Amino acid sequence: MSVHQGTNLKKVTTHQLQEMKARGEKIAMLTAYDYSTARIVDAAGIDVILVGDSASNVMAGNETTLPMSLEQMIYHASSVIKAVSRAFVVVDLPFGTYQGNSMEALHSAIRIMKEAGAHAVKMEGGAEIKESVDRVLSAGIPVMGHLGLTPQSIFKFGTYSVRAKEEEEAQKLVADAHLLQNCGCFGIVLEKIPAALAKQVSESLTIPTIGIGAGAGTDGQVLVIHDMLGINKEFKPRFLRRYADLHSVMTEAIQHYVKDIKDQSFPNEQESY
Ligand code: KIV
Repeated sequence: MSVHQGTNLKKVTTHQLQEMKARGEKIAMLTAYDYSTARIVDAAGIDVILVGDSASNVMAGNETTLPMSLEQMIYHASSVIKAVSRAFVVVDLPFGTYQGNSMEALHSAIRIMKEAGAHAVKMEGGAEIKESVDRVLSAGIPVMGHLGLTPQSIFKFGTYSVRAKEEEEAQKLVADAHLLQNCGCFGIVLEKIPAALAKQVSESLTIPTIGIGAGAGTDGQVLVIHDMLGINKEFKPRFLRRYADLHSVMTEAIQHYVKDIKDQSFPNEQESY
């Protein structure tokens, strides 16, 4: 029994996310990849935590999300899950673990659910991964879709620029969003697409959409925690709002620590046994 069972804390569920959309309450989603950060994120009132494969960039220092393995996602997700009392935790299925065939997708999703204790998985793409989405859903595993800029396909796109600006791609995105809803997905991330298109898609769906670089018309927003806390100084896309400057805070604290060691003011008598 978890320490939080028996308290009044209401856990977020897919049903609640649906209700939030229905009553017009925006959904707040943020990434986390480790126990200590996830505790802060959960206690601060985030509705959905995404253990994103952006861990590949911000935790492992890779240029793309492609190198991430299933084992690495399970490691991050199991650390996050242990910290969470209220938020709904969605975990990315990494590149190469669900596109091949639907049985592989099912096995990958089952490992994430069983070994990490995740609440749902997220998969990038539309019609091309329908079979995998159907198979995972058939096992009772909630699936979140991800359309628009899908970073696992970066070498197909060639750039991280805004997607679906042209009519043909916009029409495919609308069709894919409805296909994912009809399959039974509980929500869809819309990444880096024109605000008007994201609003139109969000209004035409009954399931919630969560935007990143998709304007204000989606049912919720998601950001990568390292970006919104200002840990990454170099990453400055137009859609990013920085809520802190942790790069400066951390740098100053570490410089102070180095100075205290060098001038022998740390540790002092009270800090010694
Ligand atoms: O991996 C991730 O962090 C994501 C978000 C950018 C939506 O997929």
